[in-house]
Amino acid sequence: MKIEKKFQPFTVLVNNFGFNKSNSYCLKKISIKLLLFGFFSLSAQDTNSIENIISKLSIEEKIAMCHAQSKFSSSGVPRLGIPELWMSDGPHGIRAEMNWDDWQYANWSNDYVTAFPALTCLAATFNPDLSFEYGINLGEEARYRKKDVLLGPGVNIYRTPLNGRNFEYMGEDPFLAAKMVVPYVRGVQENGVAACVKHFALNNQEQWRGHINVEVSDRALHEIYLPAFKSAIVEGNAWAIMGAYNKFRGQHCCHNKILLNGILKDSWGFDGVVISDWAGTHNTNEAIYNGLDIEMGTPSNKNKSVRFPYDSNFLGNSFLDKIINGEVSERVLNEKVARILKLMFRTSLNKNRPYGNINYESHYKTAYDVATEGVVLLKNSNNLLPIDISKKIRIAVIGENAEKKMSSGGGSSELKVDKEVSPLYGIIKEFNNATIEYAKGYSSDDNQNNRQLKSKAIALAKDADVVLFIGGLNKNSFQDSEASDRKAFKLPYGQPELIKEISKHNKNMAVILISGNAVKTSWKYDVKSIVQSWYLGSEAGNAIASILSGEINPSGKLPFSFPEKLSDNGAHHYGEISYPGKNNSQLYKEDILVGYRWHDTKNIIPSFCFGHGLSYTTFELFDINTNKNKYRLNEKINVACKVRNIGNVEGKEVVQVYVGKENSKVKRPKKELKGFKKVEVNRNEYVEVNINIPVKELAYYDENIASWKIEKGNYIIYIGNSSRAIVKEIKIKIL
Ligand code: BGC
Repeated sequence: MKIEKKFQPFTVLVNNFGFNKSNSYCLKKISIKLLLFGFFSLSAQDTNSIENIISKLSIEEKIAMCHAQSKFSSSGVPRLGIPELWMSDGPHGIRAEMNWDDWQYANWSNDYVTAFPALTCLAATFNPDLSFEYGINLGEEARYRKKDVLLGPGVNIYRTPLNGRNFEYMGEDPFLAAKMVVPYVRGVQENGVAACVKHFALNNQEQWRGHINVEVSDRALHEIYLPAFKSAIVEGNAWAIMGAYNKFRGQHCCHNKILLNGILKDSWGFDGVVISDWAGTHNTNEAIYNGLDIEMGTPSNKNKSVRFPYDSNFLGNSFLDKIINGEVSERVLNEKVARILKLMFRTSLNKNRPYGNINYESHYKTAYDVATEGVVLLKNSNNLLPIDISKKIRIAVIGENAEKKMSSGGGSSELKVDKEVSPLYGIIKEFNNATIEYAKGYSSDDNQNNRQLKSKAIALAKDADVVLFIGGLNKNSFQDSEASDRKAFKLPYGQPELIKEISKHNKNMAVILISGNAVKTSWKYDVKSIVQSWYLGSEAGNAIASILSGEINPSGKLPFSFPEKLSDNGAHHYGEISYPGKNNSQLYKEDILVGYRWHDTKNIIPSFCFGHGLSYTTFELFDINTNKNKYRLNEKINVACKVRNIGNVEGKEVVQVYVGKENSKVKRPKKELKGFKKVEVNRNEYVEVNINIPVKELAYYDENIASWKIEKGNYIIYIGNSSRAIVKEIKIKIL
């Protein structure tokens, strides 16, 4: 039944274009053509058929394709068999079905899905192959749920730890985010489902997201905030992109001339569809001319005087009137429709796309693999971790996040899961020889008595052999959640005080932070171990338990820095004008010095630096060399390095290569990530790693020529296993 429904429109389409159904030659030609439509850009012949379709459409039909018809779909043209376009959040799983025209869930019984770990976790794996797996599996679920466009991934740069939505993004480094986003996009799109990269661009805070105007230099824009988007489009060939809510240089991003026409479409050659963020469209003329193709989320008009509720959208009747009265050329409309049709040929009209599946074992396996590879061991004194599962010990599990399900909440990325293993459940299953006792310790619910919870937790901790404190943030408003930013950098609900208090009674304490953001770790010297976990999705508890028991050796690396205090973060250093803004505007005063770039350049020591992550084994990086020391502009710098495992268990390590310019004529960060490679090494063995860095990657964005420029002269290559654990520096020269 499902299948027939999918194919039917195509047959109608064929008939309507004057092909004779009995003429097998014509049909064959069309199906061969459709085969090609699948995953590559369209041929001249395909473009002709898009033009052909457009010539059969009325202006009203075309207008209807350019805006929503419901909360998550836009219109097709039934008389020609052109299907509707169905979209879904994203980015960590396929969101439950919503009602046609309001924000209530529709309460279907067949929309339970796998929750994949949040994108911060994916970034922390430093493993692009896993990102591809993630994309493939997620795309399969999207396909099964009959979605044509997945509203994700998100690649806004982590600028401040207060941004409520950082958990949906890939960290503070443009190079890492770019390398991780490309395979995700490719994986999703292998299923004939479009990835819609979001939020383009500069949506780096949730506070005032609908109207804050971002002022940022061209240099920071191109070097920091755009590279991940550019890679998703140019290398990943993403078929859709979502505009951001905020303004850039005075104009809303969903119809921003510089971003959409200038950079995205003209300079990067984007041939896909620009979709507005939900209710991110504000002006008909700008929407018409500045690159927006589909307007979504603008409230519908339920007033009986309009024919269809969404006709009142900016790209609805107002657009139609302008075309009818000759104010706007129909060519502008056709250009949008051509893009939408192209998207359909890549997705809903691609007869060869797979059917997808949901909650498959392989999906849970990928969720588990990403989760376990993304968890970061921040600190581990006296080898408190891992905890031997054979031991008959008393483990006190303390903290609300031990039992809190995190797949729901947090805004549009929330999921209705088929399964979510809580950390507490995972720990109970894993440590079945131990006595596990649980105390909540604190509560995010104001109605609960935190004093009572605290004293119970302390009593429990006193008698335990090990304390596992499972806290952090959650998906409530003003935590890791859409539409609001965090109000403070420190842990909420009295956790810092509780951790300090418990540590007075029990020194064997590990803190497991569940969050999508850095938090203040003023208590870090009071505890032996700290584990940065993330919103890990369906397999959360299993993954955390596997790390705590050593079944999996941690190998995640921080995709963003943990500053000591908020003012140590570049964006916050400059105060209100820089974050959250003043008089509806903000200036990114730290410019290109985001994250570790700021810390390194200003000699600020963070609590935990970008790229940091420990293991239960010890790795040694040796025989580190570049293939030569002088390079021409078109060459690649080859960095070779050996990684030896000198500990007792096998593990994975990430070799990281940073580059800095000596005596630069322009402002530069001390160093920037330019290459990385994750390798698996057995104990007492070593593996060889080769990382190639094209010299052109060393360019900076020169605002005077509005282009990239490579400075000649000396550079330092830094090789290590975090941004601050540099094992060797090598000087090279660019000729
Ligand atoms: C979010 C988007 C999301 C959309 C649809 C917006 O509020 O910013 O990321 O895709 O809603 O749910």
